[in-house]
Amino acid sequence: MEKIEIENVTLTLAHPDKLNVDWTGQNDLVRQITAAWMKVDSTDIPLNPRIVGKPGAGKTTLSYYVATEILKQEAYIFQCTIDTRPEDLIIMPVISSTNTINYHASSLLTAMIKGGVAILDEGNRMSEKSWASLAPLLDDRKYVESVIAGIKIKAHPEFRIIITMNDDATTFDLPEYIHSRLQPTIELPYPDGKEEYDILKMNIPFANDEILNITVDFLQKAHNHNTSFSVRDGINIARYAMKLHKSGVSEDIDSAFTLAIKAVLGADGLRLLAFRPRQDNNN
Ligand SMILES: Nc1ncnc2c1ncn2[C@@H]1O[C@H](COP(=O)(O)OP(=O)(O)OP(=O)(O)O)[C@@H](O)[C@H]1O
Ligand SMILES: [Mg+2]
Repeated sequence: MEKIEIENVTLTLAHPDKLNVDWTGQNDLVRQITAAWMKVDSTDIPLNPRIVGKPGAGKTTLSYYVATEILKQEAYIFQCTIDTRPEDLIIMPVISSTNTINYHASSLLTAMIKGGVAILDEGNRMSEKSWASLAPLLDDRKYVESVIAGIKIKAHPEFRIIITMNDDATTFDLPEYIHSRLQPTIELPYPDGKEEYDILKMNIPFANDEILNITVDFLQKAHNHNTSFSVRDGINIARYAMKLHKSGVSEDIDSAFTLAIKAVLGADGLRLLAFRPRQDNNN
């Protein structure tokens, strides 16, 4: 593991996340994030974009894709939870086998040191207290302070940060001083039918086209009815329907699809599947 010394404290660094991620469609969002991160002048500072959208809409994928494929930087994902403490975000002390204390840099701090991209995933699951420790990092000061190691660390000039947030109910409302530091807000809407087909095809390229098409039709209907069924649900449904069909559990594609909807989405999914508006011209 890589180590680095800062103000006489030896830090063990985290590893970047290596994911097999690709992105299709909604290219304007890719360009907006890239623009937010750009420095247009040597005195300019990058912004800290916040991606908001429904669960499973593609927020983490989009962030990772722009970081690694457009900026060509290493990405470090930090999963924010309700239990994330301020020090978890920066440096954690770990007792070694020889009873000495080792200091482990978080993925966020490692991105700051190495000049990578930090993805603070599901940021609004984290409490205000933890957010408060990041305030200086998120404005033009660009540093964090570790109370445990007693050091202050300045971010590398290439460091970038992006925050993803779910707009579901199980999250915190952030205070205004944090809100104002997490800008611009980039909304990730559900994709249209053509984009959704491409996403399914990209994620399960070996899937049968008929299954992909009925899944897209179902998802588009779900979005039109304002349900929370997501692209991720669609990928799971299509994948399972294909397995049910290929394994012979379900004889035909329609029954495989119905069973997959029931298994992945339950009764709400079946109700939507059965719902037929009087004039249904969607295809
Ligand atoms: N435009 C896209 N191109 C390629 N894959 C996509 C796209 N949008 C969504 N996906 C796929 O949909 C799935 C869900 O995406 P992701 O995990 O990024 O969503 P999320 O918004 O971060 O969800 P959560 O809120 O649950 O964290 C992933 O398998 C991802 O690969
Ligand atoms: Mg996510």
